[in-house]
Amino acid sequence: MVEVNGLTKYYGAYAAIEDVTFRVEPGEILGFLGPNAAGKTTTMRIITGFMPPTAGTATVDGFDITGDSVAARRRLGYLPEQVPLYEDMSVREYLAFCARVRGVGRSSVPASVDRAMASTRITEYADSLIFKLSKGYRQRVGIAQALVHEPAVLILDEPTVGLDPRQIIEVRELIKGLRGDHTVILSTHILPEVQMVCDRVVIISDGTIVAIDTPEALTARIQQTQQVRIEVRGPEMPLLEALKGLPGVQEVSAERVEDGVFRCLIVSDRSQDLREGAAALVIQRGWGLRELGTMALSLEDVYMRLTSEAPVDEPHGEDR
Ligand SMILES: Nc1ncnc2c1ncn2[C@@H]1O[C@H](COP(=O)(O)OP(=O)(O)OP(=O)(O)O)[C@@H](O)[C@H]1O
Ligand SMILES: [Mg+2]
Repeated sequence: MVEVNGLTKYYGAYAAIEDVTFRVEPGEILGFLGPNAAGKTTTMRIITGFMPPTAGTATVDGFDITGDSVAARRRLGYLPEQVPLYEDMSVREYLAFCARVRGVGRSSVPASVDRAMASTRITEYADSLIFKLSKGYRQRVGIAQALVHEPAVLILDEPTVGLDPRQIIEVRELIKGLRGDHTVILSTHILPEVQMVCDRVVIISDGTIVAIDTPEALTARIQQTQQVRIEVRGPEMPLLEALKGLPGVQEVSAERVEDGVFRCLIVSDRSQDLREGAAALVIQRGWGLRELGTMALSLEDVYMRLTSEAPVDEPHGEDR
């Protein structure tokens, strides 16, 4: 439904995105995940036709966003980072205005507006002036304006940013409810959001794509490795050397807990359970074994690994 091919955007000499390629299937919710300045908004602005790419193409339902701009944009709804709401209009007036601008026929406008308000649950505020609405309701109006001309594709740039926890849950539910009827690309820097809402995730970092997969597969990918945490009273260097010598070990890091006591993180391939070997080794050397356990890895760890060059040495997982 959306195909992005080799998109590149230079601001002067600075490449905001480079060779971004992915596709979104009909009815799918795709999460576009990345830290600040990764290039999410830049990519979305190009897909929605707000600015041209330096190189590459984007098509919506087969229509090229630069070559067939009118046809492509008719199939798109866009919630930008900052929604340009007309403060002095009522919700109904504003949505009617948006519907007209997007080419909805005059006689169909009232029904389109009613439908958009119903699916974003703002009908009871239809006659409220926009400037009087709370942030959460303004965001709903933003989503309603993206929906009002019934586009096949919705591009939502950080739809839950700035909302309170209850509003966040409501807006996520609302987006999940759009699955099937619409193809959705939503950008976020919040990991649980993609896990809760999205069918697939594209991870972008520093303007390039570092992973495209389902949330489950991304988690599974990192779980090819196992991490063992061990706390030992003993000499640092010999301890590190000894642990590195265990079969299957890929990486060992140590952090001093108190004088002569170190907490080590051992990364090994999944086929090896290091716990017994590590325990036996420590005891055999006459060191003090204070704690031993494995760490569960979360999608957050995958994300941190993929979006940072430095190895992650503090997983957020819980002890198993
Ligand atoms: N108009 C512009 N002129 C120059 N540089 C820009 C412009 N717009 C964006 N950039 C730069 O391009 C890079 C990508 O920005 P972009 O807004 O796409 O990131 P983002 O992933 O949406 O970040 P955020 O999560 O903060 O919204 C950033 O380094 C940004 O400073
Ligand atoms: Mg952005």
